[in-house]
Amino acid sequence: MNNHNTTEAFGTENRKKDTRLWSVASGASADSESAIREAAAMIEAGGTVAFPTETVYGLGADARNTQAVDRIFQAKGRPSDNPLIVHIAGREQLDELVLPYGETARRLMARFWPGPLTLVLPARPGAVSPRVTAGLPTVAVRMPAHDVALRLIAAAGCPVAAPSANRSGRPSPTLAAHVREDLAGRIDGIVDGGPTGVGLESTVVELIGERVNVLRPGGVTPAELREVAGEVTLEPALDAASDTRPEEAVARERTGRDGDAVQSRNAPRADNQTAEPAPRSPGMKYAHYAPRGAMRIVKGAAPERVSAWIQAELDAARRRGERTGVLAFDEHAGAYRADLVVSCGSLRALETAAQRLYAALRSFDEHGIGFILAEACPEEGIGLAVMNRLVKAAGHRIVEV
Ligand code: TXA
Ligand code: MG
Repeated sequence: MNNHNTTEAFGTENRKKDTRLWSVASGASADSESAIREAAAMIEAGGTVAFPTETVYGLGADARNTQAVDRIFQAKGRPSDNPLIVHIAGREQLDELVLPYGETARRLMARFWPGPLTLVLPARPGAVSPRVTAGLPTVAVRMPAHDVALRLIAAAGCPVAAPSANRSGRPSPTLAAHVREDLAGRIDGIVDGGPTGVGLESTVVELIGERVNVLRPGGVTPAELREVAGEVTLEPALDAASDTRPEEAVARERTGRDGDAVQSRNAPRADNQTAEPAPRSPGMKYAHYAPRGAMRIVKGAAPERVSAWIQAELDAARRRGERTGVLAFDEHAGAYRADLVVSCGSLRALETAAQRLYAALRSFDEHGIGFILAEACPEEGIGLAVMNRLVKAAGHRIVEV
């Protein structure tokens, strides 16, 4: 095992890194303490270390160290105009990062921290590297509700910038194995703390006066936010993202706020074999969370009609020689014939869909599936975040039947 303990050890960016792996159970034990100390030392020395949170695995680095933060962008292949979330282990770290904030922000922290809520607040100038904020006057901060994450951040003794630990454009990792798949050889270490809980990223909110505006739906639902905030709104572009028109993909390209964005095969295109019309918007060049195969979401008021339409399309694709996959819910999953059928659990328990979604998207790649259809779910509670990610994974290609 090598021991990267100096800043110099992280100096050569193009060389393949020797990625250290630790397994750490929740709760203190002598083994987990020494693993966390080693991982924290890597972060202190300017390295990049992936770690579990209650949402997804993050790829952490010292938020004050521009070189270290650059290593995150390089490892992920992330566009540099997309700012990172800064993770803290205690409220005392917050005042160093942000300027004074209002009563609603205070109430949100009191209620949801530690937990899957990220607050975008006015940044204290110079507190973190400008690469973290992508030059914005604000900084996104959260305190994860995960024992391993909190111990690691506390031991590192610095604010930890951490985007999801996936290659840009890929589904976020809910297992250490997903991190290895995407980033082994590109980062300095991975702390394996088992599967994450929520399965989707944190809810990101900004405060406009005392109004809470949801920029990214996630682990904390709008209804939960309303319990402590007077006014909660959804960023208008979120609604646009799930607009549908019959047999047509609707595109809204948003970058900078929505997560990782890269050129992707799931950007709608005119050259596929499914007789889809060409996209109207020429700007649909980014996709997020995407499997390698082409995926579409199928929606409709009548579930039998949706299932029948999906099966007919699957059969047609199979006749063309494609490997086919369906992302479905327990209520209908048993009825499909395809090369791979993955269930996200019951429509009545969408927390399970949140937990399973990213692993499900990755499983289509593992099975070499090129043609994927996904059932939609109601955009209620955590279902709002599930559909938000699904729509992005499908490059905004939605079919209404
Ligand atoms: O659950 C999570 O939030 C995970 C875990 C690792 O904590 N992290 C995560 O990070 O999802 P990332 O980088 O994949 O997503 C960060 C989101 C992006 O949508 C980014 O655009 C937004 O937060 N963001 C960061 N700073 C911002 C800012 N100053 N203003 C607006 N949005 C910001
Ligand atoms: Mg991400």
